[in-house]
Amino acid sequence: MLRPLGICLALGSLAQNCLGSCVPHTTPCSSLTVTPPDGASLINITATERYNVTYVGQTFNGVAGIVDICDVEVYLTHGDAGDEVRFAIYLPLTGWNGRFQGTGGGGFAAGQFDIELVPAVTGGYSAGATDAGVGQAGNTDLWYNSTQLIENFVHLSLHEMTVLGKELSEKFYGRKPDYSYWFGCSTGGRQGMSEAQRYPEDYDGIFAGAPAINWDKITMADYWPLTVQSQGGDPVPLCKLGAIGNASVDACDLLDGAADGLISNPLKCEFDAKSVVGLEVRCDDNTTTTITERDATVWNRIRDGFKDEEGNFLWYGLEPGTNYYNQAVQPGFLVSLQWIRDFLLRDPSLDVSHIEQGELVDLFHQSVSEFGELWGTDNPDLSAYHARGGKLLTWHGWADDLISPLGTLDYWKRVVDLAGGEEETDEFYRVFMAPGLGHCGMGPGPQIPVDSLVPLVEWVEKGNAPETILFSGNGQSRNICKFPKELEYSGSGNVSSAASWKCI
Ligand SMILES: *[C@@H]1O[C@H](CO)[C@@H](O)[C@H](O)[C@H]1NC(C)=O
Ligand SMILES: *[C@@H]1O[C@H](CO)[C@@H](O)[C@H](O)[C@H]1NC(C)=O
Ligand SMILES: *[C@@H]1O[C@H](CO)[C@@H](O)[C@H](O)[C@H]1NC(C)=O
Ligand SMILES: *[C@@H]1O[C@H](CO)[C@@H](O)[C@H](O)[C@H]1NC(C)=O
Ligand SMILES: *[C@@H]1O[C@H](CO)[C@@H](O)[C@H](O)[C@H]1NC(C)=O
Ligand SMILES: *[C@@H]1O[C@H](CO)[C@@H](O)[C@H](O)[C@H]1NC(C)=O
Repeated sequence: MLRPLGICLALGSLAQNCLGSCVPHTTPCSSLTVTPPDGASLINITATERYNVTYVGQTFNGVAGIVDICDVEVYLTHGDAGDEVRFAIYLPLTGWNGRFQGTGGGGFAAGQFDIELVPAVTGGYSAGATDAGVGQAGNTDLWYNSTQLIENFVHLSLHEMTVLGKELSEKFYGRKPDYSYWFGCSTGGRQGMSEAQRYPEDYDGIFAGAPAINWDKITMADYWPLTVQSQGGDPVPLCKLGAIGNASVDACDLLDGAADGLISNPLKCEFDAKSVVGLEVRCDDNTTTTITERDATVWNRIRDGFKDEEGNFLWYGLEPGTNYYNQAVQPGFLVSLQWIRDFLLRDPSLDVSHIEQGELVDLFHQSVSEFGELWGTDNPDLSAYHARGGKLLTWHGWADDLISPLGTLDYWKRVVDLAGGEEETDEFYRVFMAPGLGHCGMGPGPQIPVDSLVPLVEWVEKGNAPETILFSGNGQSRNICKFPKELEYSGSGNVSSAASWKCI
């Protein structure tokens, strides 16, 4: 049960976000202080009231309004490492809903600040983000050889941000948050999984979208399309790869009962690109070209995933219906190039634009042995998180071109095996696979909810565990099914509308 909350100072539009009513602050912003978490020491803290703060652009955890906040900026360092880690905790001046929200980063940025903090505060949360001391520009050449910064980035700073965020919320409003939630996609999703695996007490609910878990492997698998493209001929142009991709959708579209341009369950799609050899394709420059045997082989090998020279599986590829543009043409996917150049080869001056299969396989094994345990964040033992009542929610796009959706399912299956079955796992961890959804959004399919935390909050606070989650966009809507259920057309009604589909 919730404790009775204080009287809301900002009735009206904000009140709807509050748990019953909103909590006013009891302490002046400028007098806030923090106790550095164990192992860290304080460099400085500033706490300033800021008015009419907003964020312009697409957001992912709710709508960004115009908010008045107490902005607490904290810098910490660790031992003699010389790191300077920024933490930003935004405390709404009015309308706190009694909840704290920790937010995550993307790529090699540990946090994204206003794009996630402003929507969180608009929704009534106090909210936090950190740069882990590595800045936000993603220049890993500045930190690849610092064990402290790597530890900060992989897990420590997220935990410290959470500790600071809860402490400052308690000091400002005079009582602890009733609930704490994590929000993040991609790297932010991996960070959420890290919290569940390493610091199970931190969050009551964790939303981990398209999580970059299996980091040591996905960074290498993301390079694989470039290597395939370099073998046995000139790189296959994107228009041809796109045309084969479209043919794969055409071939498998009807498996779910409806011609809607989406493959609901790509696992059932047995498309072989060899079946479209000879197909004529028009490229952007209006030249016409024909799909060859080699084009088909390249597409198939990218889809099938990263293998060694004996054909042994190393990591998953991309699903039919996925655009290959990020990885299959030079310069490739930057995060993957940085990983190989800075963290594995440890020389930012190297040109890593052409790596052959044998070397890539060696690098893969190095990546797994040096970084798997620390950075992989794929420990399936969530028993401590389950035991504290935590709930973990993931959605992943079937058309994700940067992180294979099969890695999320690989992890889910390992959790299920350890937890003793799907029903047991459903109590604390649920996965939703969205047709035609790209990486954390985009793609031709229905798009992510305006606020991905909503179903999680329902689950944590009211026990309403999600069976489906509504996705809408691109003229289509679907109630995405809890995996391993999948969408099937009911046989009548508008194929673009969620109501015409069921989960089987
Ligand atoms: C706090 O320390 C950080 C890191 O050294 C520095 O960049 C920032 O300017 C300092 N802030 C204040 C208000 O002194
Ligand atoms: C915030 O915006 C409101 C409405 O535009 C305005 O009346 C107010 O003066 C602004 N506050 C500050 C501190 O700028
Ligand atoms: C990496 O380490 C070397 C010495 O071990 C040091 O000279 C160099 O400054 C470091 N580079 C970065 C970017 O921290
Ligand atoms: C693939 O299909 C999409 C959507 O219909 C279309 O926009 C695109 O031009 C097609 N690509 C190719 C290469 O035919
Ligand atoms: C290709 O053809 C279309 C229609 O025929 C025309 O609108 C477009 O400008 C052409 N593009 C190029 C690059 O020539
Ligand atoms: C089907 O639903 C879509 C999306 O809601 C809508 O745009 C379209 O007009 C509908 N088609 C028919 C025939 O009702």
